[in-house]
Amino acid sequence: MKITLSVIKADIGSIGGHIAPSRRLLETVREYIAKNGSGLLTDNYISHTGDDIAILMTHGQGVGSPRIHKLAWDAFLAGTQVAKEQGLYGAGQDLLKDSFSGNVKGMGPAVAEMEFEERPNEPFLFFAADKTDPGAYNLPLYLAFADVMNTPGLILSPNMAQGFRFVVMDVNHTEGDRVIELVAPEQIYDLAALLRDPERYVVESVWSRATGEQAAAVATSRLHNIAGKYTGKDDPVMLVRVQMNFPATGEVLAPYAHGHFVAGGMRGSHQLPLMPVALNSGISYFDGPPIVSCAAFAEHNGRLTEALDAFAHPFWNTVRDRVAEKTLEMRRQGFFGAAMLPMGELEYTGIMEKLKALDSHFTVRGETPASAPRQVLAR
Ligand code: F6R
Ligand code: MG
Ligand code: MG
Repeated sequence: MKITLSVIKADIGSIGGHIAPSRRLLETVREYIAKNGSGLLTDNYISHTGDDIAILMTHGQGVGSPRIHKLAWDAFLAGTQVAKEQGLYGAGQDLLKDSFSGNVKGMGPAVAEMEFEERPNEPFLFFAADKTDPGAYNLPLYLAFADVMNTPGLILSPNMAQGFRFVVMDVNHTEGDRVIELVAPEQIYDLAALLRDPERYVVESVWSRATGEQAAAVATSRLHNIAGKYTGKDDPVMLVRVQMNFPATGEVLAPYAHGHFVAGGMRGSHQLPLMPVALNSGISYFDGPPIVSCAAFAEHNGRLTEALDAFAHPFWNTVRDRVAEKTLEMRRQGFFGAAMLPMGELEYTGIMEKLKALDSHFTVRGETPASAPRQVLAR
């Protein structure tokens, strides 16, 4: 049976700044989907990660279905109404366009979808991250699908021996989808050369070379590129099918023990490590640290089991402690050097104006009559 898994997520307002949506807001989205999705959806699961609400849906409409996308868009519109009534911060902030045009791609919400022939048992993982951007998944996906040091299945399981095909998108190219396909293991150096730059090159999907089946789908939208200016971090969602011809659940989860540094945190403008957290977690220290949650499911004929919280296990407490230590260590250097993102990735433009004003006060020694640097007058 062919099933489509779609997850569409947006930040449409939260309590206390950017911490988490209100209970009433979540309920509004939940009720909207329950009421208007009947007959269209086979199943759904509504959750939040930080200030983002994700609508996970199973259905038979295929990828990019206008009906499915409109349902999610309208649910977010209904939620925005409530967010405004409650005075939530950033009400409707990710709904960047006024009218729906058939697909939420390019309109603000993030979307990850895949259609596949359902296996007799179909385990999959739904990841949601907050205070970061889609390239945050580059390293975990590389490790899970291309690195034997992380994934022994690549040498142990005959089903995985042929490796995987990666589709990578150049997210700076806004005139269309600019993509490249690379296969592991033959092209892992080429893959690494691209994935090391997660602000520009983002893994969009991963496919089994043995069977041609899709293993992973990542939301690649960059609000930054849609709005023409920074409007917040993209807070990407991802779907990963696991076991059999794909890496085992544990192989897909293992890379999150690294707590790798990603773009995000305070004012969307800092480098901080990604912390694996429990489902429905909020945000705290330094408007961060960036977080990732993972709901594990099994499905049959599109019906979902309850979600299991993949990062709730006590093992992850040690990881969280270490990520907190790494976070504090980085924060000790404030705005200097690697702690803050490069100019093009900053969420605020104030610093550009400051630098422009300062620029006119620079002098080149020997080129001006007064060779000493002029003092900048306090304004
Ligand atoms: C938002 C974020 C937050 C805000 C900060 C200031 O993506 O990460 O750190 O940037 O809370 O928000 P404003 O400027 O809206 O007061
Ligand atoms: Mg937000
Ligand atoms: Mg967010």
